[in-house]
Amino acid sequence: MDIARTPSTPDGNPHLADAPPLPPTPPMILREDYRPFGWLVPNVRLDFTLGLAETTVRADLQVARNPAADSTPVLRLNGDGLNPLEVLVDGAVMNSWVMEGPDLLVTLPDDAHTVTITTRIDPAANSQLMGLYASGGMLCTQCEAEGFRRITFFPDRPDVLSTYRVRMTGPRADFPVLLSNGDLVGSGDGADGTHWAEWHDPWPKPSYLFALVAGDLMVQRDSFTTMNGREVDLGIYVRAEDEGRTDHAMQSLKRSMKWDEEVFGREYDLGIFNIVAVSDFNMGAMENKGLNVFNTKYVLADPDTATDGDYDAVEGVIAHEYFHNWSGNRITCRDWFQLSLKEGFTVLRDQLFSQDMGSAPVKRIEDVRVLRSVQFPEDSGPLSHPIRPDSFREISNFYTATVYNKGAEVIRMMRTMAGPERFRAGCDLYFQRHDGEAATCEDFVRAMEDGAGLDLRQFRRWYSQAGTPQVRVAVASVEGGVELTLSQTTPATPGQEGKQAVPIPLKLALHDRATGTLGEETLLMLTGAEQRVTLPHDGDAPVLSVNRGFSAPVVIRRDLAPDDLVFLAARDDDPFARYEAMQDLVVGHLLSAVRGEAPEKWGAEGGRAAIRDVLATVLADDGIDDLMRGELLILPGETYLAEQLPVADPGRIHTAREALKGWLGQALEGEFLALHHRASRVGNGFDAEAKGARKVKTQALVFLAAGNPGLAAELATAQYDASCEPGGTMTDRQGGLLVLAGLDSPARTARLLDFYNRHQDNPLVIDKWFSLQAQSLHRNALAHVQALAQHPDFTLRNPNRARSLFMAFVGNANAFHAPGGEGYRMIADTVLALDPLNPQTAARFVPPLGRWRRIEPGRAALMREQLERIAAAPRLSRDTFEQVSRSLG
Ligand code: ARG
Ligand code: ZN
Repeated sequence: MDIARTPSTPDGNPHLADAPPLPPTPPMILREDYRPFGWLVPNVRLDFTLGLAETTVRADLQVARNPAADSTPVLRLNGDGLNPLEVLVDGAVMNSWVMEGPDLLVTLPDDAHTVTITTRIDPAANSQLMGLYASGGMLCTQCEAEGFRRITFFPDRPDVLSTYRVRMTGPRADFPVLLSNGDLVGSGDGADGTHWAEWHDPWPKPSYLFALVAGDLMVQRDSFTTMNGREVDLGIYVRAEDEGRTDHAMQSLKRSMKWDEEVFGREYDLGIFNIVAVSDFNMGAMENKGLNVFNTKYVLADPDTATDGDYDAVEGVIAHEYFHNWSGNRITCRDWFQLSLKEGFTVLRDQLFSQDMGSAPVKRIEDVRVLRSVQFPEDSGPLSHPIRPDSFREISNFYTATVYNKGAEVIRMMRTMAGPERFRAGCDLYFQRHDGEAATCEDFVRAMEDGAGLDLRQFRRWYSQAGTPQVRVAVASVEGGVELTLSQTTPATPGQEGKQAVPIPLKLALHDRATGTLGEETLLMLTGAEQRVTLPHDGDAPVLSVNRGFSAPVVIRRDLAPDDLVFLAARDDDPFARYEAMQDLVVGHLLSAVRGEAPEKWGAEGGRAAIRDVLATVLADDGIDDLMRGELLILPGETYLAEQLPVADPGRIHTAREALKGWLGQALEGEFLALHHRASRVGNGFDAEAKGARKVKTQALVFLAAGNPGLAAELATAQYDASCEPGGTMTDRQGGLLVLAGLDSPARTARLLDFYNRHQDNPLVIDKWFSLQAQSLHRNALAHVQALAQHPDFTLRNPNRARSLFMAFVGNANAFHAPGGEGYRMIADTVLALDPLNPQTAARFVPPLGRWRRIEPGRAALMREQLERIAAAPRLSRDTFEQVSRSLG
């Protein structure tokens, strides 16, 4: 299964005699191997002497034997690339320490000691962006999951909780701002232009929640009064050039604090809450206690540089990290297999928050779209794993859509089964029972059973079983009603052949197409492999609306006639069900087109006429707002379509989807034109009406571009130009340019250049410039990306920039799947070039190639070839090694 990197015979292969020794295969860590750590570390003092190229760290660890663990005199301290400059035990030099691989082993005679270790690191040389690193002249940290061990030797595991006192000294000119977790307890001047600050965090925490920031930063300050009347000082720190773009983040933070009090009863627990924006960052953001560190992308926003989507993302991520203060920090994870305990729960919390801040149905549809286009493919491919994995080689590879987004769906199902009030009682019990602990998913489930009064014995399978359940629904008319036959299966996933039935909460309603009567919603639990239920119904044309609100993260297979789908798409009272019917209608048509099946089954024009008519209804429907209308106008994506087929031909999918779009663009040209005109007359505000107008405005362009490219080019150019007038928005500018970038028009080059010149100084906007060209429908998109990779502003060293070009490209299915394999080669080249610099980000480019088994044989062979080329490279990181070997396995 895995790629062997060591010769299998211990006496060695003679041909390898002259070759340099191969690095060992990274070990597999197993969930069942968990043992408590032998030592407690109640208190930690860290003393940093800061410099960009040289930082010295003196760590004092107060240690004591852990009575709850097997007794051992050996204290194993994890390290990663560190050398101990000095080791003291109780203040005296100690020379009998040993290194075992990267770790430091110190043997201690008694039950309690103070161990002092000095290390020296070079933050400027840290291109992995894990541990302490330099970014644009500032110093910052990222410790989750295992970055703390790159700063000092420590039991770097989440079940070792300590209180931290952190002192930083450094040149005032370079680092006027010195921040860490908790409260500022002292500061002052030192010799030679240095100054110092000392912070103390009273809440015991694991090392992954430690943070330090030092730099020349501007701050926006505000304050929040908690429900018990405590004042909290809020600060958002950014570099000088980003000043003035933090207001939305600050408002989002205050709304999050209030919402968590009102909805979950959670109050903030320190006098300070700081956020720092950093432009070099592997992930979105990090919930370090009292000092959240963010990717600039999720902090900075103003109308001229951020889209409506960016505004929503900032609000969601600010909330997510803030909510971690309880779901993650006050209660952390016992080990990294429990990651979904904090991430799944916190994603659900941020989703519910965003539902309350804006349009709940639209947010739900957006979240389902992400789940189905990212998590479902993950769960049906070689990287499939349960939300609580059983093994890993590199934990960074498990910050996945499964752990995060499916994890959130699993907790959402508990909420659906219990109802909001009992769910809240379950959460309250969880927080009360486990406050201050490093807990497990099992602890959470038990608190839900006891607090919410649910029986979750069978439900626990959602934690242990990977794969997306497939639910078949058949409806038959019987005397006085209908009989539903529901059955479930879960396809085998790597390492899990046989699957068991899981409890599936399905919200459903029985409508009648003839009378237009809408039935009442009920909740049905599908617990067995097959189940039959009879529902009363009076009417001749029953239509079942099922998995309303996407009550369960499953695939529904239902045989609905096109007329029924049309009815649901136009009439269902559940907005998600409308969206779903629309998607099913389009998927049905496109899949039969892709398979070359007789399209008559889908009615006139092979189903296109029905789709046109529903779209026309949606365009004219006064009962929905433009934000919702925008959702109903989104055609299913190419990845989602590919996911519906055992083996997909991406070229055929693209052609069929573009053909439908073009046909609809022509058939409804007048309607789309009218929509674009109407939406263009709405102002530049940030209310739902204006945001909705912007959403449908660009969507109208997308259809028109496929149906009437000349006309669309004119409109897109006009939209772009109007957005450059005072008060114009990035949403309109980016939308217009994205459409234009896909067309052949003289305006294309001119506007791309204009956009670049206009935003040259703003890296986040230049990221958009790279992305929109990489995503464009232009037939030369692949060549454009190849050229952009050579652009002077392109670099692999900045993760946002690397993703802006290559992740956007991977999402451009037609270009990525170029039949000659050039797209696959480019991504493999990217992995190989990035791996030595930043393994965590490099490994994220492997999964797209790992989909080869589900792609037609010609392309599959080319994808595999590139995976093998990566696998053959010497000295692969653990991150990339694991992803490539699983993908080939
Ligand atoms: N806990 C962070 C979050 O809020 C993500 C940190 C990920 N870090 C990593 N090295 N993978 O989601
Ligand atoms: Zn998180």
